[in-house]
Amino acid sequence: MALEFIPVAELAEIPPGRSRVVRVSGAAIALFNVDGVVYAMDNRCPHEGGPLGDGELEGATIECPSHQWRFDVRTGACAHDPSVRAKTYDVRVDHGMIFVEASRLLAAPRRHREVLRRVAAGEAPDAIGRDVGLSPQEVERTAEAARVGERLLYFGDLYLRKGRVGGTDLRGVPYRGMKPPDAEMLAALDALARLM
Ligand code: FES
Repeated sequence: MALEFIPVAELAEIPPGRSRVVRVSGAAIALFNVDGVVYAMDNRCPHEGGPLGDGELEGATIECPSHQWRFDVRTGACAHDPSVRAKTYDVRVDHGMIFVEASRLLAAPRRHREVLRRVAAGEAPDAIGRDVGLSPQEVERTAEAARVGERLLYFGDLYLRKGRVGGTDLRGVPYRGMKPPDAEMLAALDALARLM
């Protein structure tokens, strides 16, 4: 997989000893400036998901604000439990701009878009699944979650532009007549949240 560094923040925004959380393709990434060198780590603590970027940075160690586990921001190593490691990302700084290597983060949304495009074009789920390494059931789940996302994005955009919601979604279903989400819709939203 080719490396993809994408710009996320300006170096001047994160002085030495400070941290900042940015979003990359829906994922929260914590940036830490340790004596002028920037490191990037998944903001979700591998213990129970605490916000690592909100913790206390001491040298190269970040303390999770939830249960005080400590991690080395250079490697992700956990001082509390050596079998645990926080996910880290390669960083480059160029002309005062911080870039994070995001190929892992960008691969999933691209695959989901590809699945949706091919499902919408009428291709069989098992053929798509063979190409992208998913089971036919996973292809259908991915396509459904992407459809829910498409509707939500359209809905939000409409609201932002008009300050109200009217009209219909992309399938012609009137928003005003839409029922509150049922269990099936909530399950689809959960699936969508996992994809983002
Ligand atoms: S969630 Fe981070 S230490 Fe528990």
